[in-house]
Amino acid sequence: MKRVFSGVKPTGHLTLGNYLGALRQWAEVDQHRADSLFCVVDLHALTVEHDPARVRRLSRQAATLLLAVGLDPQRCTVFVQSHVDEHARLSYLLECVATDGEMRRMIQYKEKSGRERKRGGGVRLSLLTYPVLMAADILAYGADEVPVGDDQAQHVELTRDLAVRFNQRYGHTFVVPKATHPAVAARVMNLQEPTSKMGKSDDFGPGIVYLLDEPDVVRRKVMRAVTDSGQEVVYDREERPGLANLLEILAACTGGNPEALAGAYGSYGALKKDTADAVVEILRPVQARHRELCADPVRVEGVLRDGAAKARAMARPVVDSAYRAIGLLPPA
Ligand code: TYM
Repeated sequence: MKRVFSGVKPTGHLTLGNYLGALRQWAEVDQHRADSLFCVVDLHALTVEHDPARVRRLSRQAATLLLAVGLDPQRCTVFVQSHVDEHARLSYLLECVATDGEMRRMIQYKEKSGRERKRGGGVRLSLLTYPVLMAADILAYGADEVPVGDDQAQHVELTRDLAVRFNQRYGHTFVVPKATHPAVAARVMNLQEPTSKMGKSDDFGPGIVYLLDEPDVVRRKVMRAVTDSGQEVVYDREERPGLANLLEILAACTGGNPEALAGAYGSYGALKKDTADAVVEILRPVQARHRELCADPVRVEGVLRDGAAKARAMARPVVDSAYRAIGLLPPA
């Protein structure tokens, strides 16, 4: 059976982009066909300026949402990254295989370090080494596949490079993983700024639909989405990015195809209304389960405790073998 690993970072409230690009796939497809692990990657949330209480709160919320979207602890392993030491242990070894040039070439590093500099703070060293920790997350479990939105493709590519390099230098240790992306909505764009990804923590708040937004808030955000100046509804990501984004969201929510949907609409208004309704419908059951789970925090804690124990047992032997392969003396 294939092994799948993926994660979500608790740096903000989870968005429709997270759901359509990743979480929904994990719940509807991956957990049923693979031995899967899904992780709240809290160590990654420390790579930019953070408030400790907020990270703790968002980590709990993200874990609760992973269950609310339908991840079933009987079918997959759900856990928090910092509960399993192997991630940090392996990350150090991989830092000894990666180069600083590789890190500086990462698109997300360039974007995020620019943002941190603008804020006037220093750039944390951990932001530079972020992709190495991400590689450790994946390689520690021998994952074959990493289901992610397409913004993570470069990081998974780097993970492959590090795995291959380590294996060549020190003997076969790691499975070389590959990224998988959903067929539609692999990159949901901000509704107000449709040339930028809908991120959890970006500057265009009104253009972000959060998983826990009330239906009237979702409707308002979608109805106010920036579209283009044309009249006709066509699917063209380059020339009509706002419209294309709405068509992709609608297609992802209804199981349709964006080109075919474009032909079915005569006006932007009707498209926006149907998209808003479709998003509200897709979020409704998630929000209902989230409410139930919030009333039972002990259940969520139990899932995370069991998940961490299972994850540790899987990662330990892989990371131990990497320690031996690279030349470290095993403890007596
Ligand atoms: P994060 O927390 O930014 O996002 C979690 C998942 O959601 C996807 N995603 C999107 N997909 C489509 N459209 C969007 N607008 C959108 N925004 C986010 C992301 O691609 C991701 O799949 N570095 C990762 C977390 C991570 C990880 C890992 C992932 C750390 N270690 C190991 C996989 C495996 C991140 O910041 O995801």
